[in-house]
Amino acid sequence: MRDEFLDTGVPDHEIAEEAGLRPRSLAEFVGQRELKEHLDIVLGAARQRGQAADHILLAGPPGLGKTTLAGIVAAEMNVVLHVTSGPALERAGDLAAILTKLGEGDVLFIDEVHRLSRSVEEILYPAMEDFQIDIVVGKGPAASSIRLSLPRFTLIGATTRTGMITGPLRDRFGLVARLDYYEPMELEAIISRTAGILDVPLDAQSASMIASRSRGTPRIANRLLRRVRDFAEVRGDGVIDRATAAEALRVFGVDELGLDKLDRAILGALCGQFEGGPVGLTTLAIAVGEQPETIEDVYEPFLIQRGLLARTPRGRVALDAAREHLAGS
Ligand SMILES: Nc1ncnc2c1ncn2[C@@H]1O[C@H](COP(=O)(O)OP(=O)(O)OP(=O)(O)O)[C@@H](O)[C@H]1O
Ligand SMILES: [Mg+2]
Repeated sequence: MRDEFLDTGVPDHEIAEEAGLRPRSLAEFVGQRELKEHLDIVLGAARQRGQAADHILLAGPPGLGKTTLAGIVAAEMNVVLHVTSGPALERAGDLAAILTKLGEGDVLFIDEVHRLSRSVEEILYPAMEDFQIDIVVGKGPAASSIRLSLPRFTLIGATTRTGMITGPLRDRFGLVARLDYYEPMELEAIISRTAGILDVPLDAQSASMIASRSRGTPRIANRLLRRVRDFAEVRGDGVIDRATAAEALRVFGVDELGLDKLDRAILGALCGQFEGGPVGLTTLAIAVGEQPETIEDVYEPFLIQRGLLARTPRGRVALDAAREHLAGS
């Protein structure tokens, strides 16, 4: 899904290709073992009772598989998937229009559910809880509200920021699931799967190298694989071996930790200009010429996870590992 906030300049044909790479069943979905087990139980129970599954909140950094999982839930339940996002639902009426079109048991996927407006969120509460909405008809003193019953549906909310979900909304989800960064072995499996689908000849060593530089993120793993494929086709004979993969990743500016130019710019500014910090997010964002939201949602989580950067009450600070990494590269 495209978003004006997190738009990272990915061309449309790659977005289409990404959709084609999405696993369609839980069995095909690599990694996230615990989450998959929970989903398997929740969906299995709902199927046995012949009911819609409970509402599910998926939280975690971009590219870990939230949208993919929403599609899988709909497929496993054999129902229709309806897709929208927090910023797309401007007025209460926008949500009401979608809700009244749902079929029995359908899945409604709301991406970036933390960006719902207050008024939209408020009509979502009774919809989630009692499968009812109150619609206001008319204006001023003549206005009255009518109550509509909705079919039982499953709401799947996705967010890159659990901290920004309001308590009342969060409490209405029956399952709150966090997606974690993937292990290198899991990313290797994802890369091999994608290479099979795209018909890219790739040896195990190259798969493992790409995996180790993918920041624990399937979307990045698939993207790096495509860049390595491009490089092998244009500069080589199309065959990807360890040396080709290493050279391709070097050319595209992806280092041993998987950090790209902007990651290194963030760490470089922190360690250099700001002398290790603490420095506020906005100042840091201006220094590297990026949106604060993008830094916070897309870049920072991995830098924090790798122990390169820390968030403190007074701002961002660089950790020793960041200095060592910059000195070594
Ligand atoms: N577990 C997985 N196994 C195989 N491929 C995966 C897995 N998770 C994600 N992918 C692939 O990674 C890509 C990104 O996944 P997806 O779009 O679901 O991420 P997302 O969490 O919704 O990201 P965003 O927060 O940016 O919307 C997809 O093309 C999908 O094929
Ligand atoms: Mg998504």
